[in-house]
Amino acid sequence: MSITPKFIIVAIDGGAASGKSSTARVLAQRFNLLHADTGSYYRALTAELLGRGVKTANAAAVRAELADLRLGTKVAGHDAHITINGTEVAEAAIRGAAVNAAVSHFAALPAMRSALLAYQRGLADEARGKKFAGLVMEGRDIGSVIFPKADLRFFLSADPLERARRRDRQGQPDAVAERDRLDSSREASPLICPAGAVAIDSTRLELAEVVKKMAGLIAAKLPGGI
Ligand code: CDP
Repeated sequence: MSITPKFIIVAIDGGAASGKSSTARVLAQRFNLLHADTGSYYRALTAELLGRGVKTANAAAVRAELADLRLGTKVAGHDAHITINGTEVAEAAIRGAAVNAAVSHFAALPAMRSALLAYQRGLADEARGKKFAGLVMEGRDIGSVIFPKADLRFFLSADPLERARRRDRQGQPDAVAERDRLDSSREASPLICPAGAVAIDSTRLELAEVVKKMAGLIAAKLPGGI
């Protein structure tokens, strides 16, 4: 009798520059998971809408332009990149100052969130279809809204000064504290640590230590422990 291997879903939420992406990337490699950086999806849609001259204040225009976008996925290694109308949005276009300043304003709009809801959930099927052992998805509302029943839900935090230092070291002008304020105070899917999530404060932890904590819990969920 063959045993179907368990497909696991790991959710990682946390504030700006809390270490979600670096951690998720290492876990994806180690456990053969598809990695979805949902912040990059909000950034890609924001860059597209900014390029089309859409303002956040004009909800009708936001809805109309979003309805015109066909979202798809390009898997490269362990990463699930979003495509818009068949084209992948360049990293440089989504990590710049203009998108940093606008993304949290766009991400607060219910139309933006619903445009990405089914897309993000659908990545579990994408991962299964491509024979990954699971999905690791990081963002702000993954454990609370997108996959509240994920096998594991983590919430990463770190001191705001330390996070601002991390972003500076990456050479990116970014108002980390301001984005956190907007993300935590919005009505639609705010950044919260959902009940039952495993909270990890990474202020004084190296990446390897955060990974070790998470990897131990993930391995315990897998048959044979890996
Ligand atoms: O990399 P960093 O932590 O700075 O941010 P990000 O993950 O790239 O996310 C950029 C922005 O997208 C966040 O500040 C949120 O406004 C928004 N976002 C969101 O609202 N929900 C998510 N699941 C992911 C990102």
